[in-house]
Amino acid sequence: MRRTIVAGNWKMYKDTHEAALFVDAFLDRLGALPAGVEIVLCPPFSALFAVGQRVRRTRVRLGAQNMHWEDCGAYTGEISPPMLVDLGVDYVILGHSERRTLFGETDDGVRRKTAAALAHGLTPIVAVGETAAQRDAGLTTARVVAQTQAALEGLPAGAVAKIVMAYEPIWAIGTGRNCDPEEANEVMRAIRGAVDGLAEAPILYGGSVKPENVAAYAACGEIDGALVGGASLDPNAFAALIASASVPE
Ligand code: PGA
Repeated sequence: MRRTIVAGNWKMYKDTHEAALFVDAFLDRLGALPAGVEIVLCPPFSALFAVGQRVRRTRVRLGAQNMHWEDCGAYTGEISPPMLVDLGVDYVILGHSERRTLFGETDDGVRRKTAAALAHGLTPIVAVGETAAQRDAGLTTARVVAQTQAALEGLPAGAVAKIVMAYEPIWAIGTGRNCDPEEANEVMRAIRGAVDGLAEAPILYGGSVKPENVAAYAACGEIDGALVGGASLDPNAFAALIASASVPE
């Protein structure tokens, strides 16, 4: 049985004070949330320490939004896998479409980062997704399968099974236009078939997930949770979303 995960990607929002206020309010609601859902908070680098201190003795896991693949070196502005481990980070989002589109991240970079994360005991959340134009041209499956194979190239199936994938149609991110759950489910089936070992790996849906629509994704057989942007910024909305994200028995 694959685990269910809800990860909140705060992107470039919240200073340390705002992050602390969020966590304090969110932890008040934690006891009422379904035990079967793994909860991950991915604040900006600057708030990792503050959030990590607060969630340390709770079931909430800490995630980062990016990292470099090298352990150390002359890479101004970068953060390494051992630095994330040092902060108590368990998860790291890799290959988010904003990284790929706005910061020139390549498939090869995502591959190096994925291998480095695994080598340091971090769980990569590898994001793939198609643009609106690719979808309109009927290229969704080809695109996400190619991104998935590129990111996981060279990894043994046992390592692949430790990865978390995220399918995030780019046209659905931050737009309020979420992908039809059945359509996302079919794309995820293709992702799962793309690389040996992914049958056991959780795949999250991302793109305008809200408390009101998350249950429809959770009910789909291939979907194991959500990667959430906007709705993870408010502790009440994020708690409500998690409450509706557990797989129906
Ligand atoms: P959104 O972002 O939930 O605001 O659409 C999702 C993401 O970028 O991971």
